Amino acid sequence: MSDDTKLKPVKVEIEGKQFEFPVVRGSENEKGFDISKLRDQTGYITIDNGYANTSSCQSAITFLDGEKGVLRYRGIPIEQLASQSNFLEVSYLLIYGHLPTRVELDAFTKGVTQHTLVREDLVKLYDGFPRDAHPMAVLSSIVCAMSTFYQDSLDPTNKDQVEISIHRLMAKIPTIAAYAYKTSIGQPRIYPRNDLDYCSNFLHMMFAVPTEPYHVPKEVVEALNLLLILHADHEQNCSTSTVRLIGSSAANLFASISGGICALWGPLHGGANQAVMEMLADIHRDGGDVNKYVRLAKDKTSSFKLMGFGHRVYKNFDPRAAIIKKACDKVLARMGVNNPLLEIAKRLEEAALKDQYFIDKKLYPNVDFYSGIIYSALNIPVNMFTVMFALGRLPGWIAHWKEMNEGGATKIGRPRQIYTGPQTTEYVPINQRGKLKVAA
Ligand code: CMC
Repeated sequence: MSDDTKLKPVKVEIEGKQFEFPVVRGSENEKGFDISKLRDQTGYITIDNGYANTSSCQSAITFLDGEKGVLRYRGIPIEQLASQSNFLEVSYLLIYGHLPTRVELDAFTKGVTQHTLVREDLVKLYDGFPRDAHPMAVLSSIVCAMSTFYQDSLDPTNKDQVEISIHRLMAKIPTIAAYAYKTSIGQPRIYPRNDLDYCSNFLHMMFAVPTEPYHVPKEVVEALNLLLILHADHEQNCSTSTVRLIGSSAANLFASISGGICALWGPLHGGANQAVMEMLADIHRDGGDVNKYVRLAKDKTSSFKLMGFGHRVYKNFDPRAAIIKKACDKVLARMGVNNPLLEIAKRLEEAALKDQYFIDKKLYPNVDFYSGIIYSALNIPVNMFTVMFALGRLPGWIAHWKEMNEGGATKIGRPRQIYTGPQTTEYVPINQRGKLKVAA
């Protein structure tokens, strides 16, 4: 969107002087005022902890309305994509901006499928990690290491090089993730099978062993497909902003995605899905008293939070959580799984949603609250949950990196600060420094 001349500029008075800033309106009527000339004109900067009020860019990829619980990729409601599309088609939609024709989708699928093998010398890196290394650390390291193996395609301004890097990343991330798991449990790594679809191939690499035939269950493929679609993009979240920030320095796609994986790992972001399962297991072991944990989450003297609850943007409900909660019952029933943690999760949700603290602060279950229950039913180990999130978020990261690079007006991301340290202080040679004062 461009500057909207119909909207009056925002007037700001600073030290008795009036300044005007143009208003920008998005296609869903979101409004912001452009302060890019603020410091030049006024000498002031803004402070915005956690960037909660700052638009870092204009983007045409994903729209979400946190008050109404709306999420759309390229204008298409998440509910429609979840029920009618598949992950590769959604990836195409996010990355290239439109639903593919049959020919376009076939070409994309073929391009991705051709690149599923990981170079044998790259695979040797796995043996250098401790067996108990967290798979997110392995994933991020191997993705960054791809930039050492594909030096022919690192130029972010070269369309062909970017295109091949997109295919390589989309194709190899499932292989890299499954190899991290196989290495951690000491089983042989299973080569990708290009006759299988994207999700089936990943599950095959995760669970097949060379000694026995492995049949990928249809319901597991469907559940995985759904989860990947729901995680595929979420506009300027912490990891996506990280990918954009790294990319803004003209770093290559592999390096940028590797940084995004690290940002996703934290328990306040994608790492929450692992933290939720650990929390539910703790509550279960502790006798299942969910009210005790709701009380603990409200207690400001404790650092405990209800993991999987709350969201920076959603203040009504998270539409992804609503879809996953419904899918949970269905998937568990179809797979004949009876997980006591699902029952604890439901009781915990019920207790929290009735509680005034959670009502007042508008805290609702987010995408991570129920996703772990499905991953467990699919036999995905808990420390791989955030890797699953990364697999899903990959096309979103790529789409944002590509949009930024193609946008033209991109500036390197470089926030300012309000300095609060000492003013000019003389250097004191070490032999003239006084003794440290120790508090009594
Ligand atoms: N349990 C208890 N209190 C909470 C929780 C929670 N899960 N989440 C927020 N609050 C409180 C928080 O203490 C604060 O209280 P006060 O106003 O008294 O200081 C208030 O609610 C506002 O929270 P905030 O931390 O200022 O909100 P934020 O927008 O900065 O953080 C959040 C959002 C998701 C990091 C936070 O809600 C949280 O830590 N949730 C648990 C971790 C989690 O589930 N993360 C996954 C997010 S969704 C997946 C993704 O996209 O990454």
